[in-house]
Amino acid sequence: MKLPNINILDEKNKVLRQKSLEVTFPLTKEDKKLINDSLRYLEMSQIEKYIEKYDLRSGMGLSFIQLGIPKRIFVASDELEGGSFKRYVFINPEIISKSEELIYVGEGEGCLSVNRDIEGIVPRHARITIKAYDENGKPFQLRFREDLAILCQHEIDHLNGILFVDWIDKKNPYKNKNLMREI
Ligand code: NI
Repeated sequence: MKLPNINILDEKNKVLRQKSLEVTFPLTKEDKKLINDSLRYLEMSQIEKYIEKYDLRSGMGLSFIQLGIPKRIFVASDELEGGSFKRYVFINPEIISKSEELIYVGEGEGCLSVNRDIEGIVPRHARITIKAYDENGKPFQLRFREDLAILCQHEIDHLNGILFVDWIDKKNPYKNKNLMREI
């Protein structure tokens, strides 16, 4: 399989700080292609032989703004048992409910645009319900917990120009640790 030709922006690029705009339907051909390329990239980045072959960093989620396109679209690819992937496409996503319980990734959150080790806690809601549109403009709602809930919050941040590092208290990176559950 050939690696899709996409260019992921680095955190130093100011474009990542833009707030992305609502998308109108139907999607353009270019957007549809970019959705597919992004999903394939994410999947290859989770498969050992491609990680080695292309020197990839693994990622499960990617927002259009990380490709320099300020549209409210993100995709996710979740590896299932047996090596297949569940694909998600979220357009104009909105979190319509969230748990009070907060969680954080113990080993630290990662981002394909942030290429350095970061220590500290990013508080996230343990469960969320997200409303969005699919590629055909059809609305849907999904409820997520744990890592997929974190992924959605991380990607929606991207659409608002926010990076996960912004949430970490630089003077006290493990602030309020006791108030949250580690996953
Ligand atoms: Ni990210």
